[in-house]
Amino acid sequence: MAKSSATTKTKDTQTSGPASSIQPIMNQQFDAPKPLQKYGTVSQRLPIGLDEKTRQQSVTQLNQLLADTMTLRDMYKKHHWQVVGPTFYQLHLLYDKHYEEQSTIVDTIAERIQILGGVAIAMAHDVAELTTIPRTPRDREEAPIQVSRLLEAHQIILKNCHDYAKQADEAGDDGTNDVVVSDVMRTNELQVWFVSEHVVDTQLVRSE
Ligand SMILES: [Fe+2]
Repeated sequence: MAKSSATTKTKDTQTSGPASSIQPIMNQQFDAPKPLQKYGTVSQRLPIGLDEKTRQQSVTQLNQLLADTMTLRDMYKKHHWQVVGPTFYQLHLLYDKHYEEQSTIVDTIAERIQILGGVAIAMAHDVAELTTIPRTPRDREEAPIQVSRLLEAHQIILKNCHDYAKQADEAGDDGTNDVVVSDVMRTNELQVWFVSEHVVDTQLVRSE
């Protein structure tokens, strides 16, 4: 009995009356209250045994690493699309593999920032403002130029990794130290190896 009356009610609201007047409330961002948390601040919401000064230092450094990693990730996709030449197939596939691996690192860094009580940057305009990797032109470039740009970006990230890992270790933020070394540094070092071998000046048809 109860079941049949519920069915009838659903049918009624679908065809007439109140349901048709339900509308999403748009444009709420133009009359927004204060944000839940301002960028640049750290909260102590999660009890992870780290003081505010340590969290702040790690969040600032991780946001720098995040901006540079997002830039490198997107540079890999640009080159994946635009590569030409005799090594097209190898590089096309390798660039996309590295793009996927950098995407995984991006998520790991951003979530570490949230765990520390910070606010992770996310949008392209913020990434562009924060990154220290030199701007890549919109033009299509030769493969060796692409590789040189990628290696430069990797090196900027790796130098920061060494610095940030040491500081996180000294401050007692072992989780951040692990993310920087195990996820970011190790992956970047491996990618440098694979990319570098494409610009080694070597003979192809005769041994030296
Ligand atoms: Fe693709």
